[in-house]
Amino acid sequence: MLLHVPQVLNAAEVAALRRRLDAAPWVDGLETVGAQGAKVKHNRQLDAASPAARELSQVVTAALFKQPLFVSAALPRHVLSPFFNRYGGGEHYGDHVDGAIRFLPGDGQPMRTDLSATLFLAEPEAYDGGDLVVRDTYGEHLVKLPAGDLILYPSTSLHRVEPVTRGERVAAFTWIQSMVRDDGQRTQLYELDQAIQSLRTRVGDGPELVTLTGHYHNLLRRWAEV
Ligand code: NI
Repeated sequence: MLLHVPQVLNAAEVAALRRRLDAAPWVDGLETVGAQGAKVKHNRQLDAASPAARELSQVVTAALFKQPLFVSAALPRHVLSPFFNRYGGGEHYGDHVDGAIRFLPGDGQPMRTDLSATLFLAEPEAYDGGDLVVRDTYGEHLVKLPAGDLILYPSTSLHRVEPVTRGERVAAFTWIQSMVRDDGQRTQLYELDQAIQSLRTRVGDGPELVTLTGHYHNLLRRWAEV
């Protein structure tokens, strides 16, 4: 499932983040990539060891957990501290699949990347190109969102970032290990949860909603790894 989560950060929060980011130290993007990715990745990243990176990635993580849509769709078990990247002057990232395993900062515990997330931090009008192109069984999806909006997609997908031919594309990105490993099961839980919430708003609580909510939790209990 490819999911657009709007307004993870509002305009003021994006502006504050950008002021800090634009003044921080940027390094070659090869820092977080494996051997195949290194051949196709051409961008810059915020130095992950810098105090600014640590502080700003906490801001993004906190914002993610405040988004009910994100939590419902990702059912996160681990969210890696987000990284920040920028592309300009023709920079791009060719076709690749993200590495399956990352290591959590601190204790170095391995985590599986079930979902990839990109949080756009530049308005689409500020740059040309730079679409995130995600390929799945239904074809290619071009993603270019307003600043503050997030796209969530399965880490199994082949994807790329098109060359940025004007201006700068700035974004945060991270990976999530979900409590529910299988994308199909996770999507079913998400759709069931959204339908329950919509019914509750539209017709109010009742015995059928109690049953449906029970089914949601019993499926989650059956499928979740915690
Ligand atoms: Ni990637």
